[in-house]
Amino acid sequence: MSAKTHASASAVAADYPRIVVPPPGPKARAVIAKDKEYSSPSYIKEYPLVIAGGKGAMVEDADGNRYIDWMAGIAVSSTGYAHPKVVKAVQEAAAKFFHICGTDFYYEGFSDLCERLAKSAPGGGKWRTFLTNSGTEAVEGAVKLARHHTRRPALVAFHSSFHGRTYAAMSLSSSKVKYRKGFGPLMPEVYHLPFHNPYRNTLEDCVRAARELFETKISPEDVAAVIVEPLQGEGGYAIPSPEFLRFWRTTCDEYGMMLIFDEVQSGAGRTGKMWACEHFGVAPDAICSAKGLGSGMPIGAILAKESVMTWPRGSHGSTYGGNPVACASALATLDLLDSELMANARRQGKRLIEGLRRLQVAHPSIGDVRGMGLFIGVEFVQDRDTKEPAAELVAKLEQLAFSKGLLLLSCGKSVVRVAPPLTLTDYDADKGLEILDACLTELKA
Ligand SMILES: Cc1ncc(COP(=O)(O)O)c(C=O)c1O
Repeated sequence: MSAKTHASASAVAADYPRIVVPPPGPKARAVIAKDKEYSSPSYIKEYPLVIAGGKGAMVEDADGNRYIDWMAGIAVSSTGYAHPKVVKAVQEAAAKFFHICGTDFYYEGFSDLCERLAKSAPGGGKWRTFLTNSGTEAVEGAVKLARHHTRRPALVAFHSSFHGRTYAAMSLSSSKVKYRKGFGPLMPEVYHLPFHNPYRNTLEDCVRAARELFETKISPEDVAAVIVEPLQGEGGYAIPSPEFLRFWRTTCDEYGMMLIFDEVQSGAGRTGKMWACEHFGVAPDAICSAKGLGSGMPIGAILAKESVMTWPRGSHGSTYGGNPVACASALATLDLLDSELMANARRQGKRLIEGLRRLQVAHPSIGDVRGMGLFIGVEFVQDRDTKEPAAELVAKLEQLAFSKGLLLLSCGKSVVRVAPPLTLTDYDADKGLEILDACLTELKA
């Protein structure tokens, strides 16, 4: 990466996006060739981006091309690339000690982060924190906690959900069959119900399906937990009605089921509040977090009410979970979220949604624009009346935008998830909208 990339954000503002060689350039091609030869064939690799560095919401590739990043490495790089305060916190922690194992011993950053997260939980009361390395591990742990606490076997999850790649998380997921195909038998006692996506179904249908499940297939008194993404990520950036989450809060209370919110993608400030569920006024019994929490350092968490985090000493642990360097990164991230980035997410989210709605007027392929803060879904359709997904268009759009210097990422059947770093500037928003407009015009032609 050139020294210029490390210049101040304002100095590079006019200098990106910048395509100096059609990507992938020669250096990127060499990396890709090696990767293709030696890495697991299971990796997806959406498009041939070979990152070499970045600053804020700007990414520079191995050949010096510069892009505006509207996807943050799948909603992760919350404080942008190379935020000086996060870099400093990580460097200082790394210079002290890499590891001691938070399961067995103590250190300050670990207890600081547990306290900070426990106190961030919505709804009041005392909460506790278990630190993990990833989102799937937080989900896996939350499932163990729910079964252990309730001594019940069953779990309810939702259509189009995504919770991760390990066995419990994979069994709870139902966004794409390729994530499950060939891996059976999956975990038993998982029941899937419709998620309320106002663009595609009704709340009444979702409630009816839930009542039918409990009348015909599983007693709610055998259900340990209902696990739901309050805003659905991988499944299509869908935003349910508050009534949907309230229905599940009431139902869980009625039958003694735990309500777990998977906020791995929607949490840690992305929506302009620490937890997306705060927008709905519904507090769960436990929250799973990861992704943006550590700005890209591998850290996740299970937050749970003290009254449900009842597993005893030694019943759950992790060698690396809450690693000191990752804790330092998370603490610096939380400071930035509080001081400026959640406010910026709200401001830039509004700007982007307004801009995307203007594009919707000009481009009939945009069926829906929805979002909270910088968690925004743009759903593409073949026809606004039939709402038939436009998967091919979205695949082409991703590639075309990449060639013009805008990084996009799809989800669901034909949704572009706009989930940029929370450091996004007016320039990053407006320039990205301009490129998106140009791409859609070109694709229409
Ligand atoms: C809502 C949700 N839960 C869990 C996960 C799994 O997280 P990880 O990839 O860190 O295991 C993801 C990842 O995309 C996610 O979006």
